[in-house]
Amino acid sequence: MDLDAFRALEPWCWRAPSAHNTQPWRLRYEPDAVRIGWDPAYTLPAADPTGRDLRLSLGAFVETCLIVAADAGLRLEYLADHDERHRWVGLLRPAPHRYPTPFRTTDVWERRTHRGTLAGGVEPDVLAALDAVARPAGGGGVRTVPRADRLGALLRAADRGSYADPAVVAELRRWLRLDPTHPDYHADGLTDRCLALSRPAAAGLRVALAGYPLLRPLGLPRLLAAAGGDPLAHGGTVLVLLAPEHLDRSGQVEFGRVLLRSWLTLHTAGLAAHPLSQLIDVAATRAALGTLLDVAPQRLLHVTRVGRPTRPAPRSARRVPACAAAPPTGS
Ligand SMILES: Cc1cc2nc3c(=O)[nH]c(=O)nc-3n(C[C@H](O)[C@H](O)[C@H](O)COP(=O)(O)O)c2cc1C
Repeated sequence: MDLDAFRALEPWCWRAPSAHNTQPWRLRYEPDAVRIGWDPAYTLPAADPTGRDLRLSLGAFVETCLIVAADAGLRLEYLADHDERHRWVGLLRPAPHRYPTPFRTTDVWERRTHRGTLAGGVEPDVLAALDAVARPAGGGGVRTVPRADRLGALLRAADRGSYADPAVVAELRRWLRLDPTHPDYHADGLTDRCLALSRPAAAGLRVALAGYPLLRPLGLPRLLAAAGGDPLAHGGTVLVLLAPEHLDRSGQVEFGRVLLRSWLTLHTAGLAAHPLSQLIDVAATRAALGTLLDVAPQRLLHVTRVGRPTRPAPRSARRVPACAAAPPTGS
């Protein structure tokens, strides 16, 4: 494998999505392979105690690497080789053929999480395409959440539950970039722009989070949850990715690859995703959502609002910036 050629493509691979935009992946170049793992400094032990979103993010990164390499004419494949102790998930190694994928580096570059208005629903053909992406991986494919009215109450409860946990809030604060003067504003985390916060709203959130230890007993979690607004009021359809009953860690990484393919399927159809992970992070709302869908709560792997953006979302930051304005084109 031409390792130097792959190394030059890394900035495009880093466009993979990750929870809180921590970009937890790390790469080790070996003589015949590139090993992929994670750096504990970029994980979310409070918000993601089981590591579910970490492994989905790593899978999304693996899939992104394969797409970017294939588009550049490199023949690579992924071999899962999960090693929890040393924090590796697997490796990219030379293959006889290019990785087969309908996606291009331009899709990787253009895809974005969209937290603003999402018009319309998801047409049946797009739902069928998503299902075709998810079902071969096992599990139950993709399901639409019925009863959006009930979902609003669940979302408020999930937000309140998240904001009630000081460790989750401290971690969120660490990854929020609410002011362009933040030293990591252009490197990682969640910016005010990506969260679609106005300047006053961002300033208010900063002040509220700074006063959290004092104000928590006075009802701040409820206030923060209410101030966050109702994403469902911004339209879209809520979809859930279902996992098989017993999905091990390596399987979760595989589903991260499915997640990325699903998001790129949406992107190429002119749609975008806005994940609502809090719904399955909080035990009570996870159970209620399971009941609503009539599936075991542990099978709910990812929840996202989906629709057609009415305007482009800002591009999120990365620690390894893509140096050109446009991605490399394949051969
Ligand atoms: C596994 C996973 C879980 C996520 N959960 C949420 C979420 O609950 N809420 C949210 O607004 N964004 C969520 N995101 C989106 C990330 O914040 C987003 O991917 C990251 O900030 C990079 O932005 P981009 O997707 O526009 O490149 C999630 C992403 C992944 C991969």
